[in-house]
Order: sequence, then structure tokens, then C-alpha cells
Amino acid sequence: MKTSISARVFPAISRAVIDYHAIGRLGVACAMALLLAAFAATGRAWADEAAAKAIVKSKSCGGCHYIPGVPGAMGTIGPSLKGLKNRTMIAGGKLENTPENMRDWLKNPKSILPETMMPNLGLEDAQIEVLIEFLGKL
Ligand code: HEC
Repeated sequence: MKTSISARVFPAISRAVIDYHAIGRLGVACAMALLLAAFAATGRAWADEAAAKAIVKSKSCGGCHYIPGVPGAMGTIGPSLKGLKNRTMIAGGKLENTPENMRDWLKNPKSILPETMMPNLGLEDAQIEVLIEFLGKL
């Protein structure tokens, strides 16, 4: 018995259409996943930056430092923190500019430089980590 062409071709076409839909759905799923991942990454970065700025405001760091991107942070008692990431030394040349040293500095500036004007601001460890991340981008 002869099968008509359409009977042979049609299943092939419908299979192709199903495959196409499957690929299309996979593509959409991939795009969504990528979008979500990108959003999660930028969303978190944004949240960290907002948290850092909130700490900077609550501790009045801007009363002593110029801090780019923080409105009103125009202080001149301490050094400008613009371009901090490119500086080799901090704390009046006493410390190398590393995250570990920054942690010690922010925890207790006077333990490193007794004559410094920067007070111990009573920062919590978690706040210090958020600040180190933020300062590392200035
Ligand atoms: C009362 C003024 C004052 C306040 C408030 C203050 N700082 Fe400072 N800060 C200084 C001074 C002065 C120095 C420079 C160290 C020195 O030579 O005494 C300094 C140094 C620093 C440094 C090292 C940069 C360098 O080049 O030495 C960082 C980072 C820093 N401060 C961040 C902060 C942050 C973050 C806050 C808020 C949580 C803050 N400071 C609040 C006065 C202040």
C-alpha cells in the first residue's frame, strides 16, 4: 500500500514544529535565567552600595572626607577618598592599602595612628565588610 506524500511529510513537519517550540521554550528559559542571574548580581551590588552609603551617612564620614557619589560628603579634615583604590599607602603612610589593613584601620584608627583625628566609629564587623567593598571601588 502506498502512503500518500502528505501522510509522510506531515508528521515530519509537525515534529519539526514541536522541536522548534521546544527549542524556543528552552531559549526563553535560558534568556530568563540569564536575565535573572544578571539582575541578581546587579541587584546585590546595588544593595551593597546603598548599604555602604547608609553607613557612611549614619557615621558622618562625609564630615571629614570627600567621598565621590555621596551627597554632602565634602569634608576636608581627612583625605579625599576619591581614587582610594589606586593609593598604595593609607593612614598617613603607616599601612599598605589592603583589605586586611583597611579592616584594622576602620575598626580602630587610633590603635594604628594614635594622633589621628579619625575616631573609633564603633563600626560592627558586618558594616566594616560592606565599607571595605565600597571603599575598594572609589
Ligand atoms: C573626625 C574626622 C573623621 C571622621 C568622622 C572619619 N574619618 Fe576617616 N580619616 C580621617 C583622617 C584625619 C584620616 C587620615 C589619617 C591621618 O593621617 O590621621 C582618615 C583616614 C581614613 C581612611 C584611610 C585613607 C588614607 O588615605 O589614609 C579611610 C579609608 C577612612 N578614613 C574612611 C573613613 C570612613 C569610612 C569613615 C566613616 C565610617 C571615616 N573615615 C570617618 C578623619 C575622619
